[in-house]
Amino acid sequence: MEKKNKIFEELEKVKQQAVGEIKGVDSQKELEELRVKYLGKKGILTTRFLKQLGKLDPQLRPQVGQETNACKDMITEQLSVKKKALVSEEKEKREEELYVDITRPGARRRTGYEHLLKKTQKEIEEIFISLGYAVKEGPEIENVFYNFEALNTPDWHPARDEHDSFYLKENEYLLRTHTSPVQIRTMEKEAPPIAIVAPGKVYRSDYDATHLPMFHQTEGLFVDKDVNVGHLKGTLEHFMRELFSKDITIRLRPSFFPFTEPSFEVDISWKDKYGKIQWLEVLGAGMVDPNVFKAVGYDPEVWSGFAFGAGIERLTMLKYGLTDIRDLVRGDIRFLRQEL
Ligand code: DAH
Repeated sequence: MEKKNKIFEELEKVKQQAVGEIKGVDSQKELEELRVKYLGKKGILTTRFLKQLGKLDPQLRPQVGQETNACKDMITEQLSVKKKALVSEEKEKREEELYVDITRPGARRRTGYEHLLKKTQKEIEEIFISLGYAVKEGPEIENVFYNFEALNTPDWHPARDEHDSFYLKENEYLLRTHTSPVQIRTMEKEAPPIAIVAPGKVYRSDYDATHLPMFHQTEGLFVDKDVNVGHLKGTLEHFMRELFSKDITIRLRPSFFPFTEPSFEVDISWKDKYGKIQWLEVLGAGMVDPNVFKAVGYDPEVWSGFAFGAGIERLTMLKYGLTDIRDLVRGDIRFLRQEL
């Protein structure tokens, strides 16, 4: 009787132990190890109970056999319950790892901003394109004929001084000092009427808070019959109002340029926030000089026109309230990043 109790007690202990261990497992691999440990050919149930049946009292054998099998079934059941739990747990975990929240805001990618100068240049082009003008380009390495002579700029003119310009190759070529040569190049090739703007880089030997050795200008040229100063003024006033989006008026002050007669400095004015009228010089302009028409073979008795030249840096500084022209070329990322 005692022996009987002992073997059943032992079986019960094994059962409890198996149930405990199965509960504690957290992977299918460990679970499989437990199956082998308890139910395998060399497992505990086989070696410690079934294989020992022969040594037992024959009367006890059937019962021990039965109980052992019941224990085996019970462990099998526990293993399968646990396996199901592990499978669904692992699936859940995998799904969690793969889960993408499509409602989350995307990663922000920094995009660059258009440089202020290019932005202003584009705006100028668009204003004139909407008036029916064409956009023209010319070479930055220019010869003295286009840069000065055809523009009625004689030898003695200070612009031709070595100190103001960057000359190349025995003073025959230079980095263009203004965009006005594009007027000549266009009129040489095309018959009037002409309406063009010519933006681009120009070069002068200057460097301080308001001057750069390389800067940008846009030239404008309009040629037709019976063109007068009223056309010039109306066009420039429209240009300034479009560019600065303010109720701007302009005034023309007499000035001198070799390639225009009469010539003007053009000022713009607007009311500042205190209601005071402000005037600022923005560009040079004038009626095309007859000598310029002669240089390109247009008859000055038939054709008339106006021209203007504006610094794009200057217009940009006015538009955005910049105080140092050098900010435009320093490449300071904090400056460039501003979305103006
Ligand atoms: N070329 C002149 C300069 O660089 C600007 C200019 C003035 C251009 C008057 C013109 C003009 O076409 O009519 O200072």
